[in-house]
Amino acid sequence: MTTDHQDVFEPPAEIVDRARVKDWRAVEARAAADPQAYWADQASELEWSKPWDKVLDDSAAPFYKWFTGARTNIVTNAVDRHLSSATRNKLALIWVGEDTSKVRTFSYFSLNREVEQMANILLSMGVGKGDVVTIYLPRIPEIFFAMLACAKIGAVHSVIFAGYSADALSTRIDDSESKLVITADGSWVNGKVFPLKKIVDDAVRYSPSVENVVVVRNTGTEVTMDTVRDHWYHELARLPIAKGHCPTVQLDAEDPLFILYTSGSTGKPKAILHTHGGYQVGTYTTLKDSFDMKPEDRWWCTADPGWITGHSYLVYGPLLNGATAFMFEGNPTYPYPDIWWQLVEHYGITSFYTAPTAIRTLMRFGDAWVTKHDLSTLRLLGSVGEPINPEAWRWFHRVVGGGRCPIIDTWWQTETGMFQITTVPSMPQKPGSAGRPVFGQQAAILDEAGHEVPVGTEGFLVLKNPWPAMMRTLFKDPDRYRQAYWEKYPGVYLTGDSARIDEDGYIWVIGRTDDVIKVSGHRLGTAEVESALVSHPAVVEAAAIGLPHEVKGNAIHCSVILANGVQPSRELEEDLRNHVAETLSPIAKPDSFDFPEKLPKTRSGKIMRRILRARALGQDEGDLSTLENS
Ligand code: WT7
Repeated sequence: MTTDHQDVFEPPAEIVDRARVKDWRAVEARAAADPQAYWADQASELEWSKPWDKVLDDSAAPFYKWFTGARTNIVTNAVDRHLSSATRNKLALIWVGEDTSKVRTFSYFSLNREVEQMANILLSMGVGKGDVVTIYLPRIPEIFFAMLACAKIGAVHSVIFAGYSADALSTRIDDSESKLVITADGSWVNGKVFPLKKIVDDAVRYSPSVENVVVVRNTGTEVTMDTVRDHWYHELARLPIAKGHCPTVQLDAEDPLFILYTSGSTGKPKAILHTHGGYQVGTYTTLKDSFDMKPEDRWWCTADPGWITGHSYLVYGPLLNGATAFMFEGNPTYPYPDIWWQLVEHYGITSFYTAPTAIRTLMRFGDAWVTKHDLSTLRLLGSVGEPINPEAWRWFHRVVGGGRCPIIDTWWQTETGMFQITTVPSMPQKPGSAGRPVFGQQAAILDEAGHEVPVGTEGFLVLKNPWPAMMRTLFKDPDRYRQAYWEKYPGVYLTGDSARIDEDGYIWVIGRTDDVIKVSGHRLGTAEVESALVSHPAVVEAAAIGLPHEVKGNAIHCSVILANGVQPSRELEEDLRNHVAETLSPIAKPDSFDFPEKLPKTRSGKIMRRILRARALGQDEGDLSTLENS
């Protein structure tokens, strides 16, 4: 352990005074003694049209069920219940465009009207309970409406980050057999238009299941509209079918709410499935406690709704809490690297939740971009996506937070749906440690054989208790669910991360132990990058690894075997980089390449990434006895 681990930031007295959870030790102990009672208490703060018979049904573990027998809908709690109180007039969403003169705001009342309109349109297109709707939208209010409209009528949304390529989109549409895609003409990316509709056109050519495409006008760019398949949203909205009240369907607590594709160890992305009942309880509770949600708060989560962070803590969590969410269409450095701080100042943001890679990016532009703004409304800061290095933590704390604001680091995953390791504001924080398991959870660090390792030793991070917002399965692939998460150590959830635990029970996450790379907080599978590369005619075989990178956390390095006669060159590297961007996503662009004669493999043909990593870092290659031709 480094000496950084000794740093402890005690929460300021005024933060503790107003915190919901003041005596966190007591809450933690009570929840530990009876997790189900703790979760039942939390769930009873929400509305259920029929109460549950059982909090947790573990009879078919690891296929856990929560709040069985209950009837509910996340929209009842995220929107409808606020309409009968003063909250109906409160801002649910403040949206600011990349062109910051474009602002749209929605009270809970008007949010409901928008959601009803979208839901009516979906119903008129024949979308029903259990149907999967693909949403390929940028950070504009319609992504809220689309997700909530699906949930309202019992359809299952599958949001695909609007930076994925046509190939990646098509694969995900096919896998989910989605009949409807909701998209926009384009999105604004640093002053330029990213052609979403065109990408959908390309994707749908290979996805025969799609019957209808709904297109939101956003950038005003010209697009090609298929007369039968494609529909402008604003035209549909004018039709009589779009008007009027649309009831929120009451569902079984275990009915699916959404699937969200994420990267795993193989090329095929995993479709993580979440349900209405448990997910609403988990996201509601964790946001409320860790970010001390108060009626006067203005909450900004910078994540895109295309990722789980956007699902849980931009869309659902804030609305479940009746809070005001802020969403910005643009990026943190455009047009200048103070755009975020300008917005924090102008809109009086109180709680600001972002990713370490963004902090490190902005840190490099210097303090002046931050300090020229009055950020005194900020009370709490948050971090997610990868470990935050102590240097970035201190800068965030000192320069952005003016030394006043606790930093709530939150460790969790697409699979977990909600925070798993974090702090509440009244807990001491240690820069670089995500904190402690959430109330009702217990974590452990295991060795290969499944024994808990001593304090300070690195091992496999597992979660011991089921939790309400846990994924229920992998969509259409229950075997892979069981095998990937529950087989290595029966009875506990395998996170795929390595970590240490310290003497105070704080957890220090180190990184992934599988073939997943976190690049700028984005999760990518080595196999996805490799299959994008081998689809290039110059490439015979490829291996991708993550190497430490100052800003991105990890950068992708690829070892590529070239086809006969092809010579390595700068142009070829650029060509390969663009090829990955086009076939997978610009976020997956490799940083560096090497072109060896062959790849190190085990006798059974598995690429030994450990050796590639050691070579790339100029380190000792270690034990080579399993290497073929060693
Ligand atoms: C992986 C999950 C759910 C949040 C967005 C990412 C890494 C996430 C932290 C953190 C250290 C973190 C882990 C995890 N990770 N948050 N606070 N500290 N590592 O979700 O894309 O499913 O990735 O992100 O490696 O397993 P995801």
